[in-house]
Amino acid sequence: MRLSVRLMLAMTALVLCTVAALGLLSYANIGHAMVPAGIQRLADQTKARIGGIDALLSTVRNETLAARTFPSHQRIQRAQASGGIDPQDGLAEESARRTLAEIYAGQMTAKPGILRYRYIGVADGGRELVRVDRNTSDRSPRIVSAAELRRLGHEEFFRRGIALAEREVEMTWTRGDPADATTAAPVVIFATPVRTAANEPFGLIVLEVDMRPTFERIRAALSEDTRSYIVDGDGPYLANLREGRIVPTYAAGRWQDDFPALAAALGNKNGAAAVLTAPDGLRVAAVIGLVRFPNGMRAGVIETIAFDTIMAPAKALQSASLIVALVAGLVAVLVSVLLSRSLARPVVQLTAAVEQFAHTGQIAVPRGLSGETLRLATAFEHMTSEIDSATEALRAKSEQLDKIIASMADAVAVIDGNGNRVFANPRCLALFGEAAEIGSDQWSSKYKRFKADGVTPMPDDDSPSSRARRGESFDNVDLGIRQGDDAPLIQLVASARPIENPDGSFGGAVIVYRDITALKEAERQLRQAQKMQAIGQLTGGVAHDLNNILTVLTGGIEILTEGVSDRPALKEVALMVDQAVARASDLTNGLLSFARKQPLQPRSIDVNALMEETARLLRSTFSGTIEIDFRPAPGLWPALADPSQLSSALLNLAINARDAMPGGGRLLLETANVNLDKVYAEQHDEVTPGCYVVLVITDTGTGIPASIRDRVFEPFFTTKAVGEGTGLGLSMVYGFVKQSGGHIEIHSQEGTGTAIRLYLPSASAQGSAATVPAPAAQGGREAILVVEDDVLVRSYVLTDLAALGYTTHAAASAAQAMAMVYDEIEFDLLFTDVMLGGAINGAQLADELRKYRPHLKVLFTSGYGDRVLEQQSVGAQGAPLLEKPYRRADLARMLRLALDGPVGRNSRS
Ligand SMILES: Nc1ncnc2c1ncn2[C@@H]1O[C@H](COP(=O)(O)OP(=O)(O)OP(=O)(O)O)[C@@H](O)[C@H]1O
Ligand SMILES: [Mg+2]
Repeated sequence: MRLSVRLMLAMTALVLCTVAALGLLSYANIGHAMVPAGIQRLADQTKARIGGIDALLSTVRNETLAARTFPSHQRIQRAQASGGIDPQDGLAEESARRTLAEIYAGQMTAKPGILRYRYIGVADGGRELVRVDRNTSDRSPRIVSAAELRRLGHEEFFRRGIALAEREVEMTWTRGDPADATTAAPVVIFATPVRTAANEPFGLIVLEVDMRPTFERIRAALSEDTRSYIVDGDGPYLANLREGRIVPTYAAGRWQDDFPALAAALGNKNGAAAVLTAPDGLRVAAVIGLVRFPNGMRAGVIETIAFDTIMAPAKALQSASLIVALVAGLVAVLVSVLLSRSLARPVVQLTAAVEQFAHTGQIAVPRGLSGETLRLATAFEHMTSEIDSATEALRAKSEQLDKIIASMADAVAVIDGNGNRVFANPRCLALFGEAAEIGSDQWSSKYKRFKADGVTPMPDDDSPSSRARRGESFDNVDLGIRQGDDAPLIQLVASARPIENPDGSFGGAVIVYRDITALKEAERQLRQAQKMQAIGQLTGGVAHDLNNILTVLTGGIEILTEGVSDRPALKEVALMVDQAVARASDLTNGLLSFARKQPLQPRSIDVNALMEETARLLRSTFSGTIEIDFRPAPGLWPALADPSQLSSALLNLAINARDAMPGGGRLLLETANVNLDKVYAEQHDEVTPGCYVVLVITDTGTGIPASIRDRVFEPFFTTKAVGEGTGLGLSMVYGFVKQSGGHIEIHSQEGTGTAIRLYLPSASAQGSAATVPAPAAQGGREAILVVEDDVLVRSYVLTDLAALGYTTHAAASAAQAMAMVYDEIEFDLLFTDVMLGGAINGAQLADELRKYRPHLKVLFTSGYGDRVLEQQSVGAQGAPLLEKPYRRADLARMLRLALDGPVGRNSRS
């Protein structure tokens, strides 16, 4: 509701309330004054009426007493006492009676209210002596004849009257004589005794007075609203004047029963008033006035007046007040409309300005304001601009905070005091999902939690969310979570801080989770790589020395075998030794292969064709329970690798797969082109981004348990029984792939199978190296400078070279060789070990000597096929390389290749 309307209503209501209150108050006051006044008026009337009755009856009473003095009473008495004749005047009783009757009649003529006049004697059962009544047509007095006189000794009034003392009067209400039509009216009987000289009762003077005229006068004077009853003080009604029932309602009921409140108020008094409900249900004010006569008779007048009549003036005032209130109300409405408008206008303007501010953020002080409203508006304007700048600062700060938290790499969750999540940043949602309610039961059941090792289950109570809910503060608690048994393990570190409410109670907590899965994986890979490198170095060193020994053994055995060719038993032994050496040589090759130090001859290979061939070979050798499937990728790039080594790697993997499927299964060979990007390269050790050809060998075998997955590449690690596996298969594959610049991955699940992926660099980018057919082994006459630090090998080589017809010079180190060259010895070819003890290696020696002999021909030999060295030094020079251990035929062939070929031509054995 609008302010002006409210003001208007309030003012109008105020005025109306005031007028109404005043009206009510004056009505009540006037009412209070009216009632007593009305009652008083009524009481005064009543008093006057009862006064009239009293006056009449008292007069008649006095007259009754006065009648005793009539001499005829004594004359009758005397006549009776003297036998019928009064001794004093000598007249008969009869005469005295007549005289008395005439006196009575005279009295009655003078007083029309007297209905009957009698003198009743005690003698003869209370026989009337004289009676005058009005039993005539004109109601004139009539003296009743002697014959009509009656005995009345039994009458109540007679018995009571005759018992009275001298000068006492008995008064009684009566209805008159029903037998006498003239007396059928409310009547008062007056009786007083006449006594003899001896104070014996002789007779009773009896007067009967008709009260009707008196009552009639009262009735005539009654006002419209007044009712009037004449009552016997003892109870019965005598007349109901309002209804005109002047003729007795006598014995029709007792007034005390009809007006009990009045009777109670009266008590022993002569007058009383009360407000009560009349027998007819009307609310009235009632007054009683009473008069008592000496012998006990009481006469009463009860007058009632309707309460409404008394209150009429107050009612009139009430109506007047109503009209005044109405007029006042109207005036109030008018005034309040004007007033409220002028009062509300500034407030309305201010309100509009504030509303405008709420919608547009702009505020303008309304024109036309003055006083407090102007000050208020100006203050408000000032306040809004302050709030604006404060809000803006807050908003900027909160936005900045939001951005910081949203862009955090860590997951941030905030829980409230009940453990419900109240905030989660995007990283948190990404990690735990939208639906995850941290701290809730749903959250607890959604994840399995593990301790730092990723295997030991973490009790619910120890979880970071539970601890945070208990208000604990902690840092860097390691845990792993898994959403299901097959889901990957996510490794996290969690920290939490409780948040306190202003009253110091626990209000929630901030939990920060950092995903360290990648970090842990990188750590694992690094450890693995370091381990493999360490093993590789160890293995490489051992294999190198073994190779030198084996070279000597191989050559020595050949010479021995030739030497004992005529002694079969010894030749047999020599052959056995030769075989053993050959096996040792294989083993050393395996080790070298793992140590990535095996001499490789990489070239561009059609991997699909090679795989096809392998698959065919496997189908013919593996038992029928293993199904072999090959799925070549169309348009496969050529790969750069050593084909024979790749074949043996594939065979190794296939054999492993077969061994893992003793009950049969499926072996799937696949190829594909992939591009390993930078991200992948960064995540995996020793991987350079680029194009790769992938070979996937999948089996449905037992799978590799996670616990040994990191160890399968280690040389001599095997789970197979003694004699069934050496544990070199995967090591060789690993070394070969790594040495070829590739990469290997194992995916395995226990009970399901294993997939091994070999990534070989694509040859398309690097160009292919063609293989050179091996020339036939033959000797020669040229001079050879042999540089070999191992004395056993050197002497063996020199023997072999001599056997092939060459002239030889020998040096034990690069320094010694250079000294010989400076001395200008004659030679056609430098045959040098790549790895020489000392500061200068074989390749550097060759470089040095070429300064003097630019066309120097070189053949390198190495048992330490260091890939780096090979590529950087030997490979760069383009000279052929002879791998240790070698047989004389290999030596002869490579020498001829080096001597006959152009300088810088590259080849390998
Ligand atoms: N496809 C595979 N399925 C199940 N386990 C495998 C598989 N390939 C390798 N392994 C496990 O890796 C171990 C090492 O394999 P590796 O080829 O290096 O050695 P080996 O097969 O035991 O012996 P070798 O190959 O020298 O005869 C095996 O003993 C075997 O436990
Ligand atoms: Mg194997």
